[in-house]
Amino acid sequence: MSKFTVTTPIYYINDQPHIGHAYCTIAADVLARYRRQSGDSVLFLAGIDENAQKTVNAAEAAGQSDIQAYSDTMAENWQKTWTALGISYDRFVRTTSAEHKKAVYAFLEAVQAAGDIYKGTYEGLYCVGCEAFVKAEDLVDGVCPDHKTKPEQLKEENYFFKLSRYQQPLLDHIKAHPEFVQPSSRRHEVVAFIERGLDDISISRSAQKWGITWPGDPDQVIYVWFDALINYLTGAGYPKGSFGDWWPADLQLVGKDIIKFHGVIWPAMLMSAGLALPKTVFAHGFFTIDGTKISKSLGNAIDPLELTLEYGNDAVRYYLLREFGFGHDGDFSHERFKTVYTADLANELGNLVQRTAAMINKYLDGQIGNVPAHSHDVGEFKPAMAELRFDRALGEVWELVKGLNQYIDAEKPWELAKTDPPHLKEVLTHVVADLLQLVELLLPFLPETSQKIAATFADGVVNTQVGILFPKLEEFDVTPVEQPKS
Ligand code: MSP
Repeated sequence: MSKFTVTTPIYYINDQPHIGHAYCTIAADVLARYRRQSGDSVLFLAGIDENAQKTVNAAEAAGQSDIQAYSDTMAENWQKTWTALGISYDRFVRTTSAEHKKAVYAFLEAVQAAGDIYKGTYEGLYCVGCEAFVKAEDLVDGVCPDHKTKPEQLKEENYFFKLSRYQQPLLDHIKAHPEFVQPSSRRHEVVAFIERGLDDISISRSAQKWGITWPGDPDQVIYVWFDALINYLTGAGYPKGSFGDWWPADLQLVGKDIIKFHGVIWPAMLMSAGLALPKTVFAHGFFTIDGTKISKSLGNAIDPLELTLEYGNDAVRYYLLREFGFGHDGDFSHERFKTVYTADLANELGNLVQRTAAMINKYLDGQIGNVPAHSHDVGEFKPAMAELRFDRALGEVWELVKGLNQYIDAEKPWELAKTDPPHLKEVLTHVVADLLQLVELLLPFLPETSQKIAATFADGVVNTQVGILFPKLEEFDVTPVEQPKS
């Protein structure tokens, strides 16, 4: 048994969750469930990034003058969505919490003690969308290419972090631990960025009021990214001694847009504070929706909560992880979602379970009897999980699902019922044994479905109370798989 600490980014709360956020969080959940199932002790961290200027702007836009109250409402909304998606996080870190502030101050003290903080003047451009300083050469027609807004010109006295000091140590670390930044394309990007030279960064703001006050300087708040990255330590229990039980994190999942924060600034901060670096930071790709960038202004963001109400949470989990290679960009398409739902979930898996239960009811009076332990060789499943190739792992499981449907079609239990009842029983028992193996394999991905299949065939008797796993989508043209005939 080993420990497994997995994290997702903490999301900004200027808006509701969309499927891009859900994607990363579902992936982390699958891994957390998979490792718990293997007997590991798991810490799965989720949370929200509250101390951003965008929180203030969003609260104002919502007509809420009490920013903390706005944050509290958003915290509830995010947690509600994660619950609907079956996300089994162990801790939900909020950066306005007292325990997080305590962790931030303890961390800052360690960085200060290392001699890595000094006061200086920052003059430059700041993009509120990115919550980051931007360079004039990165702008397109004077606006931030990601947010299409004009950055603000800032001149402030700030506290700086000596990031430049960690240029060589970071390169050395990545060289010695190529698994630190994954996939390798992102590692090359991070290395190239560091090699271009690291400047020290400003880690406080005097123009902002909302945020964690700089210790001993009430005129400054801590820069939101510096505070946000520390959330991972807060979640692990820092600065309590026991935090060593969970830190370093084994896997930190992030989107590709924030890989520099996690592959450069974050490890430098940890080095400065004398703390261990996460073993792996893995960057996943970006979704578009029906070919278009997800954007608040276009109003095309898909609310994962609505999707779960329409299709059930397991269907959302399945589509997102089966359809796209983790680490690659993907296009979320409603049409594809329905096709995958109908073909893989309703027709293949749902129908397999339903027809098996129906046949046992019909031919064996609902009695399954003793089911032999059965285990197919799903050789690619484990390595695929270890490499976070969820699409592949699910592909392997579906080979089993398809194989079982073919087995039933070939054996024709509805004919065996007339010609060879003992063999009929053998066939159905064999199918149930394989379904119970499927229950195990599917558990991390489709927790509800997996539990329903187990309940259908529990205790040697078919339980018909469980109901249909994936109801057919009415407006869709569905070709049914062969049902038992009388
Ligand atoms: N608050 C910071 C993270 C701090 S972590 C210490 C942040 N928040 S965010 O809400 O803007 O984005 C969080 C994550 O959502 C990022 O990993 C980002 O990649 C991901 N996504 C945002 N839009 C996305 C898509 N369209 N597709 C996939 N993931 C996307 O950044």
